[in-house]
Amino acid sequence: MAGEMINGMLLCRCRGHLWPTMELWPKGYDWNKWFEELDNNFAARPDDLYIASFPKSGHHWSFEFINMIYNGNADSVNKSKLENFFEMHEIREIEEMPSPRILMTHLPYDTMPQDVINKKCKIICIMRNPKDVCASHFNHVRGIAEYKYDGDWNHFFELFLKGEVENGPWLSHVKDWWTHCKDNPNVLFLKYEDMKHDLFANIKRVGEFLGKTYDDDLYRKMAENSNFDVMKKNAKAKELPGIFKTTDGTFFRKGKIGDWKNYFTVAQNERFDAVIEKELKDTGLKFQYE
Ligand code: A3P
Repeated sequence: MAGEMINGMLLCRCRGHLWPTMELWPKGYDWNKWFEELDNNFAARPDDLYIASFPKSGHHWSFEFINMIYNGNADSVNKSKLENFFEMHEIREIEEMPSPRILMTHLPYDTMPQDVINKKCKIICIMRNPKDVCASHFNHVRGIAEYKYDGDWNHFFELFLKGEVENGPWLSHVKDWWTHCKDNPNVLFLKYEDMKHDLFANIKRVGEFLGKTYDDDLYRKMAENSNFDVMKKNAKAKELPGIFKTTDGTFFRKGKIGDWKNYFTVAQNERFDAVIEKELKDTGLKFQYE
């Protein structure tokens, strides 16, 4: 099933969600076939590590320091997270990857293979406040040529709020992962804002979750080497040539908390707050916006 113009961008609807349809994605961008293969031919391995997030929540960032933790050093892995991106590979390719596999995913919980939970695989869920996710996502779809999106901010804001963007809705993405996994000892939740405030402490948390016993100096070095400025400088080697509309396009844009203020109007902010507050009220999930 090739992509079609949905909401002004090239996407594909499958299993109740929207998916990107770039050339990079499952061969021929046939999501029905990909999911069928996933249902029939995928087997999780107990030593797999999954890094799950809604797009634009800090996936590249966490991939960098989690690799450092895996490798036991603070060297940049200098490879694109896309090489380890679950949805971007045919299932046969995933089956051929050597263990232990680190698999990055944006799959909503209802599309995630249950084998991963049953085999007690470790999962790290990255979450970010939805206002910055929304602003970052807007720049993402505007910046990557293959979405063919030229809508303005007001248009994108409405789509995001309705959940009509890839992997959406954001709300059910975070709520489902959280409600199903918050009491699962094999799942660690990390928030973008906490990582911004104290990256060292959060990298150390991940290390402990993965059973590592490194000293603080090494964790400190990992934090230094995965901060935004360092990662942005190294980015060229990791990014895919030609996917951005402009030569300065990058996955490392601003890396800040609060950039949403440059996009949201007062009225949009009030509407957004009302929806988020209502929907997250009974979940225990809270986000920082400053
Ligand atoms: P902005 O667009 O707000 O700058 P993902 O990797 O999940 O696609 O998330 C992308 C967002 O994470 C972008 O946000 C990007 O700049 C930010 N980011 C990437 N690396 C980062 C880092 N080391 N520290 C902070 N933010 C980072």
